[in-house]
Amino acid sequence: DGLAVVVVAAGSGTRLGYGMPKALVPVNGRSVLEHALAAVRRAVPGATTIVTVPAGDTDLTALARAAGASPVVGGATRAQSVARALATLPETVTHVLVHDAARCLTPPAVFERVVTALRTGAPAVVPVTEVTDTVRGVDTEGRSTGTVDRAGLRCVQTPQGFDRALLDRVNAAAGLLPDRGEGDPAGITDDASLVERFAPEHPVTLVAGDVESFKITRPLDLVLARALVNSRG
Ligand code: C5P
Repeated sequence: DGLAVVVVAAGSGTRLGYGMPKALVPVNGRSVLEHALAAVRRAVPGATTIVTVPAGDTDLTALARAAGASPVVGGATRAQSVARALATLPETVTHVLVHDAARCLTPPAVFERVVTALRTGAPAVVPVTEVTDTVRGVDTEGRSTGTVDRAGLRCVQTPQGFDRALLDRVNAAAGLLPDRGEGDPAGITDDASLVERFAPEHPVTLVAGDVESFKITRPLDLVLARALVNSRG
């Protein structure tokens, strides 16, 4: 019903050090991408689903197709990958969720909170969690500039939800059209920050994320993911 999901899986997985794209890494017998697509299917059944894959990939492409999703070759950065996926969406799509494949164990309730906020008219929706570490600022030389009050900070997760026209517009404003150059705007690491930068008149609505939506990034995250899959049975 007008909802599409873009699952970004075109990263190299360098920080994970597994010698393969992160989305292919096995977690208890299934790849990260298969876990991610199963969670998407459970939470938003029937949604048009696009998966961005690395150039030259065949494995993730096959897994995406097997799950009923459409593979699209990603770009050099996450933002470029999202832009390429958006360019393939049918006209009938009115709302888009952008989700990291690496957050493959995201609970259905998080998707539901994001979709509910979109349905009630929010143009941009971001799931967040509280900051648990004490956070300190540094200057360009790495010298301390003081402790930052964590009560006023949140950690940002995915899926992030958007009005499709708005997401298209801010991607175009950022020069992220798929047929243009590769230059990402500096400091943009997610989709909602494009809205802030290029359409600041639109509010970004925050909903509760979940610690189980953590992004598999470093080897320890894989240990946690495997334990979590086991504990879910
Ligand atoms: O590198 P990081 O973990 O922040 O990447 C977040 C997500 O963006 C991952 O799921 C990764 O596969 C995806 N990505 C992408 N295209 C890139 C870089 C990252 O789809 N060029």
